[in-house]
Amino acid sequence: MTDKMTIALITGANKGIGHAIAAGLADRGMTVLVGARDVERRDAAVERLRAAGGDVHGLTLDVTAADTIAMAAEEIAARYGRLDVLVNNAGITGDERQIPGAGPEVPAEVRRVFETNVFGAIAVTEAMLPLLLRSPAGRVVNVSGRGGSLTAMATTDGEFADLPALLGYPASKAALNAVTTQYAKHLRANGILVNAICPGHTATEGNGFSGDRTVEQGAAIAVRMATLGPDGPTGAFVDENGPIPW
Ligand SMILES: NC(=O)c1ccc[n+]([C@@H]2O[C@H](COP(=O)([O-])OP(=O)(O)OC[C@H]3O[C@@H](n4cnc5c(N)ncnc54)[C@H](OP(=O)(O)O)[C@@H]3O)[C@@H](O)[C@H]2O)c1
Repeated sequence: MTDKMTIALITGANKGIGHAIAAGLADRGMTVLVGARDVERRDAAVERLRAAGGDVHGLTLDVTAADTIAMAAEEIAARYGRLDVLVNNAGITGDERQIPGAGPEVPAEVRRVFETNVFGAIAVTEAMLPLLLRSPAGRVVNVSGRGGSLTAMATTDGEFADLPALLGYPASKAALNAVTTQYAKHLRANGILVNAICPGHTATEGNGFSGDRTVEQGAAIAVRMATLGPDGPTGAFVDENGPIPW
């Protein structure tokens, strides 16, 4: 290891936007750790990213499984001694059991979405914090979404007007945004910049490929916020056009 290496971990990097973020950071010369919960999908992603020339390594990481998070942190500590970039990308949308009125299964489905999108991001960030604090320029990017904007949620004729009301996914991203501001506050004095981003409506398995953007387009803002200079923002919620209303 040399001091010049930048070590980046992306959760849920085996496909979709996370995979494109991993590719984007590898393209910029970073050593990229592909976090994935499935070993086969992880190894296939590592192979693809290496074939494109990246310095890429796989890490088994299920953001809802404390043992895998602890093992991943131990492995990074042993191999590199620090972490420079953490992208909390792993996320799920949940299913129709999160629609108000769906019945007794609603709380369990909302909890399932929060376990990955909110508690997963917190658990991974907590485990990686000692390693990020050893970085000369730590960066944390939380992959949120415009659907987590309370302003957008409260608008009756906006871009989400035709979607059913959902109790899990939008609230989970609003919670992730709140968590982002609190980590930013906590880490500001250490020079660690923590931001939430929206990739835009991107075609991935997560939405049945209904998005109109490519994963590379979706990943671009995350890559930008992962490579901020020391004067970059912290505690912000942004897409490629700038700040998004909370
Ligand atoms: N696509 C959009 O339009 C859009 C818009 C706004 C925000 N986002 C956000 O962007 C992020 C990436 O989503 P995507 O659209 O790329 O969806 P995707 O193709 O479904 O990818 C999601 C990734 O998260 C992983 N994942 C899910 N649960 C996990 C867990 N418990 N532990 C570790 N990894 C886990 C998945 O792994 P498996 O392959 O093992 O399932 C997969 O690698 C999510 O946070 C999503 O909410 C997406």
